[in-house]
Amino acid sequence: MEQIVVTGGRALNGSVAVCGAKNAVLKHLVAMLLAPGVHRIDNVPGIADVEIMCRVLEYIGAECHRDGTSLRVEVPGELRPEAPIELVRKMRASILVLGTLLARCGEARVALPGGDDFGSRPIDMHLDGLEALGAHFELRHGVLHASAPGGLRGTEVSLEFPSVGATENVLFGAVMASGRTVISNAAREPEIADLAAALGGMGAHIQGAGTSTMEIEGVGELGPMQHRVVPDRLEAGTYLVGAALAGGDVTVTGCVPAHLRMELRKLGEAGCEIETGDDWVRLVGPGERPNPVDFATLPYPGFHTDMHPQMVALLSLASGTSVITENIYEARFRYVGELNRLGADVITEGQHVIIRGVERLSGCPVDACDIRAGAALVLAGLRADGYTIVANAGHIDRGYQNFVPNLAALGADVRRESVSD
Ligand code: EPU
Repeated sequence: MEQIVVTGGRALNGSVAVCGAKNAVLKHLVAMLLAPGVHRIDNVPGIADVEIMCRVLEYIGAECHRDGTSLRVEVPGELRPEAPIELVRKMRASILVLGTLLARCGEARVALPGGDDFGSRPIDMHLDGLEALGAHFELRHGVLHASAPGGLRGTEVSLEFPSVGATENVLFGAVMASGRTVISNAAREPEIADLAAALGGMGAHIQGAGTSTMEIEGVGELGPMQHRVVPDRLEAGTYLVGAALAGGDVTVTGCVPAHLRMELRKLGEAGCEIETGDDWVRLVGPGERPNPVDFATLPYPGFHTDMHPQMVALLSLASGTSVITENIYEARFRYVGELNRLGADVITEGQHVIIRGVERLSGCPVDACDIRAGAALVLAGLRADGYTIVANAGHIDRGYQNFVPNLAALGADVRRESVSD
């Protein structure tokens, strides 16, 4: 088991460059299955989830070769239209192969992802959308058997909620369907716009990506992808919250400040000084304690749910009480108990998180229960007295490349250890 040991009390100073977005690159990899040939993407982060998605693609028949921050993927003419439970269990995003395999092969067998630490996380909207395009589904022994005997046909798909994954799965089904598909109430995340750009480069006809209405005119075939992945706004935001928590002056480079508008606004309200350029954000931490701040997580362009635990870590030290409402996930609160072990005073009431700011945190062993919770606990440790030991650090590797070396380069006293269970 891997753990991260942080000794609190040091400010962060300097600059850190972010990688390509996890939540974009995973989808680009799936999109490659739509076209045989040699694909290439650049600005690929060195994170565990990319490795897992490469294993999914390899299972299906592709070959993935990494060359520094680029990935070359060879997709054959014949695919094995399956994603097994071992891989889907490791990473829920594997479910996205449904749309591409249906489009390419007319069939797919994908294990159902099941629940996780954020609650049940169903895929009903993915299935409803693909069904509207002509797919049929049958669940047998935990495996979803999908088929589209008559091929996929363009239609109107109205999503109940702007789900990121459902928008992507329907998009994958629609780009090679016959005729025109309109997705209304589509997710507007920058990663969706980036996926549409990557698909556009392959020859897909997509309009309105990044807005609530996407129009897709199906094409007979697509060519290989050549694309540079959009920067990771969550990685950028995490380092900025780190600077706010630890104090100091940090510039995050290689990012898109416009993708962090709401998060920067709330960091400003917390008392941070923020300056932005074309592709950088500089944050100077608040003096002693941040101001309390209220917000609700919402689909983009609202405050990102994946920045919620980090922000709660910051607000645990605020000079008053903050209230956060989690609107995306029903159960994203396992980190709260861990933060309270560090001395925070956080309670949950339904979907609300009530954070009464305390004067200090005090280090102890805690557990990283998911990617963002793990990152939040390491950031909290930057400001806690003594040592904070964050167990199960492997979760953090799923979404952050070089998290510990990057924090150390900014001046944190942090190290990683392997321990036997
Ligand atoms: N939902 C349904 N039915 C569906 C689909 C979604 O009820 O058919 C619900 C989910 O249970 C959840 C909400 O809708 O409560 C939002 O889910 P969404 O589909 O938008 O999320 P996702 O595609 O499963 C992606 C990111 C998550 C991020 C969310 C929200 C990837 C690989 N994952 O998940 O990222 O939290 O969007 O922005 O893109 C992370 O990076 O740490 C992470 C969890």
